[in-house]
Amino acid sequence: MKLAVVGKGGVGKTSITGTLARQLGREGYKTLAIDVDPAMNLAYSLGISTNIASKITPLSENHSLIEERTGVAPGSSGGVFSLNPTVSDIAEKYGLPGPDGTRLLVMGTVRSAGAGCMCPTNALAKALVRHLMVSAKEAIIMDMEAGLEHLGRGTVRGVDAMLCVVEPRMQSIETARRIKDLSIELGVKTLLIVGNKMKNNIEHNLLKKKSAELGIPIIATIPYDESIEQADMARVAPIDFAPDSPVVKAVEALKGSLTKQYVAT
Ligand SMILES: Nc1ncnc2c1ncn2[C@@H]1O[C@H](COP(=O)(O)OP(=O)(O)OP(=O)(O)O)[C@@H](O)[C@H]1O
Ligand SMILES: [Mg+2]
Repeated sequence: MKLAVVGKGGVGKTSITGTLARQLGREGYKTLAIDVDPAMNLAYSLGISTNIASKITPLSENHSLIEERTGVAPGSSGGVFSLNPTVSDIAEKYGLPGPDGTRLLVMGTVRSAGAGCMCPTNALAKALVRHLMVSAKEAIIMDMEAGLEHLGRGTVRGVDAMLCVVEPRMQSIETARRIKDLSIELGVKTLLIVGNKMKNNIEHNLLKKKSAELGIPIIATIPYDESIEQADMARVAPIDFAPDSPVVKAVEALKGSLTKQYVAT
């Protein structure tokens, strides 16, 4: 199961990704969580201590690795670089062990001038997602940068499903619409809505209506819960801070739906 979590800024992508990764880990999945957001917040949401997280060198800054694998150093102009760098050992070598058998890989900032632009760092990021093999009891879950620009870089090509986190707010729903258009261009097989920060029936009904209009099914809805904000302020993983919170339970239900849908038994 390879998943990418996308959506407008601040909708809850990182909170959901970290929690889902931990729950998959607890269920025995060898789970690789990949932080593809330059803000690099996934470590805390996964439950890796700030002390350790602050020492992480993102892959995008590991210039010697990028040069070794692609044949070209980042930032150098011209040069022919490999579009198929060897990546099979990267999760083991550069991933950081997290709780519940998870691993965290931090990509860091992958900048490119525009849609379709290629640079060695992007080539490595894309190859990672494309070639990391996932067997029956393995999961890869990527916490993406907010917005849409990264979709043009094609990092998400090859995922089984893209989870679009949506708050019941028009801006967030509008972002989902644009994500859908781009995901079709990219050939992403499945796009699903995860409703987050849901407060009442009016919001549930709004989301259902918009989901039907957009043609993007809702796979799960997650309630608004203050304890998740408190976890954020304490820099503690939601699953450790409030293990019995309705949010953690709702993500558990999301995990159940995903494993049923994407893991062959
Ligand atoms: N279900 C929820 N109930 C209450 N607060 C939530 C919920 N989900 C997330 N939050 C809060 O919303 C804020 C943004 O969450 P988070 O960082 O997970 O979003 P994000 O989409 O990853 O943001 P960014 O786009 O900046 O990376 C945090 O303060 C978090 O604690
Ligand atoms: Mg985030």
